[in-house]
Amino acid sequence: MFGKLETLPPDPILGVTAAFRRDPDPNKVDLGVGVYRDEYGNTPVPQAVRAAEGALIAEQTTKVYVGPAGNLEFNERIVRLALGPLAGELGSRTATIQTVGGCGALRMGAELLHAAAPDAVVHVSDPTWANHEPLLGNSGITLRRYPYYEPTTRSVAFERMLEHLDRLPGGAVVLLHGCCHNPTGVDLTLEQWGAIADVLEKRGLVPFVDLAYQGFGDDLESDVAGLRLLARRMPTLLLAISCSKNFGLYRERAGAFAIVAENEATARAIATHQARIGRRMYSMPPDHGAAIAARVLGDPALRQAWADELAAMVARMKQLRALLADRLAARRPDLDFSWLTRQKGMFSLLGLEAAAIVALCNEEHVYMPPDGRINLAGVSDANVDRVADAIVRVIGRR
Ligand code: LMR
Repeated sequence: MFGKLETLPPDPILGVTAAFRRDPDPNKVDLGVGVYRDEYGNTPVPQAVRAAEGALIAEQTTKVYVGPAGNLEFNERIVRLALGPLAGELGSRTATIQTVGGCGALRMGAELLHAAAPDAVVHVSDPTWANHEPLLGNSGITLRRYPYYEPTTRSVAFERMLEHLDRLPGGAVVLLHGCCHNPTGVDLTLEQWGAIADVLEKRGLVPFVDLAYQGFGDDLESDVAGLRLLARRMPTLLLAISCSKNFGLYRERAGAFAIVAENEATARAIATHQARIGRRMYSMPPDHGAAIAARVLGDPALRQAWADELAAMVARMKQLRALLADRLAARRPDLDFSWLTRQKGMFSLLGLEAAAIVALCNEEHVYMPPDGRINLAGVSDANVDRVADAIVRVIGRR
């Protein structure tokens, strides 16, 4: 039955982790998968998350199923974290379901779109996170791309993006990265979010915001200013939330999918479809990660400790951006690397030819996905000179 299946090529991002692990070189550097790392190369569990987890385990008396929508406190608190006071105002128009991480949220959104409007097209940025198209497209929904990145200036190709969106037919869905655009690190300004909202409104387009990095760009509030602007103005908004990065809950797969619908009746109907989609795919979500996040958000002291820890991670990533830009500029004063410091979150695109990226991985033992996306959190005081030397050696390689 399965004999005709061919072996698939490795996943563009997860394959990097596997190749890195296989490499015996003691000085190898992993700038691949998007996980935060501290100066020792570890991905810590935030103290507040540990404390909440310990308390939960001590108190838990049953492992009986959570309901199809998951942990309702989690749903309420995580949407409030994203939307702020607006969450209260929009509450009756909002349908939220706990999902299997941010990926589960994206897929839930795609399945729901496919059920409600099978001909709807989802437009994703060019480039976008390597798993967006496989993850959304596998639901059967049609995908297209809109211009987003201008490699020559390493900034948002905003005019082209806006013109493109302004030509889309009503009902088209536009996937936007809430903050810390993956893979470019290039984010929209609040003014640009406003201009996008104008076009979405004018053309009757539906925003679908992927919020995987709240708190990783500047802070928990500024990072969602664009999302909140859209939520305030748009009649319908889809939102995928991940707790992987900001809560350090990667393997627990905690996330949520929310829709702000046109009215309360539609939101109620949507909630039943969300539950049915989940039931047909995996029945009910896991409890652990969402219960931890709910506890952190519901306890003022834990919440503050978590926010402080998150702020320290962000400060470190900003320092690393400056450090790498500095070391590269010292080696190649003729080239401009200041773009590294202007970008947000963990990622930047090196913008090198494919041959140079292959050489970085195979000859220099500095690992990254084939698009040349680097995870700045993989840089450290200990390896920054090695990384800068390696990059400078392959610049110009074709
Ligand atoms: C990434 O972009 O590296 C992360 O979001 C991890 C993943 O699943 O790809």
